[in-house]
Amino acid sequence: MTQDQLKQAVAQAAVDHILPHLDSKSIVGVGTGSTANFFIDALARHKADFDGAVASSEATAQRLKQHGIPVYDLNTVSELEFYVDGADETNEHLQLIKGGGAALTREKIVAAVAKTFICIADGSKLVPVLGAFPLPVEVIPMARSHVARQLVKLGGDPVYREGVLTDNGNIILDVHNLRIVDPMGLEAQINAIVGVVTNGLFAARPADLLLLGTGEGVKTLRR
Ligand code: 5RP
Repeated sequence: MTQDQLKQAVAQAAVDHILPHLDSKSIVGVGTGSTANFFIDALARHKADFDGAVASSEATAQRLKQHGIPVYDLNTVSELEFYVDGADETNEHLQLIKGGGAALTREKIVAAVAKTFICIADGSKLVPVLGAFPLPVEVIPMARSHVARQLVKLGGDPVYREGVLTDNGNIILDVHNLRIVDPMGLEAQINAIVGVVTNGLFAARPADLLLLGTGEGVKTLRR
């Protein structure tokens, strides 16, 4: 199976998982990236069975609208049963690195509100220790050099993601060469640096369910 076929399989598995719980009032939280796009396309086939969605990025909002799925501002939504999103890396505790698509801050906000966070990923994303994928950090533009110096003190090699501005108007530093043995601790430490909006570690709020695409089918891991 190709990586795209694995992504498609987990996207469909997520739809199959949430569908029995949806009704005409349900709002679904939707992530960002190629796996999330497969999820949107699969979800759209059932758009008559739920009310609408909250999007974690402008790109996702646009794709949802193209399918005719209403997109709500998170502030107007009182309850979000499910958030479905991909990841750049996951460990067996369902702690994640996210932000490859620069949407980490909005993704973290929607994940914080949702009762159940379902992560969908192809099998290559499961790693024993997080950090081979450079950790994205969203930073207020004027704080770029300050934050980079602090990240070096933490043992990382920050690289400015050239030409990228987040949906919030900020820049991304990708931190290379981290071996993240304490994801919760590092998430808090980086978020405490002045000028950081948030970082792509999802450890304080990990996924609740991981649907992992493998050659032997979709595996389900729970926290
Ligand atoms: C975007 C993300 C994505 O979930 C992550 O980059 C995985 O993307 P893909 O599904 O394309 O592999 O965090 O900010």
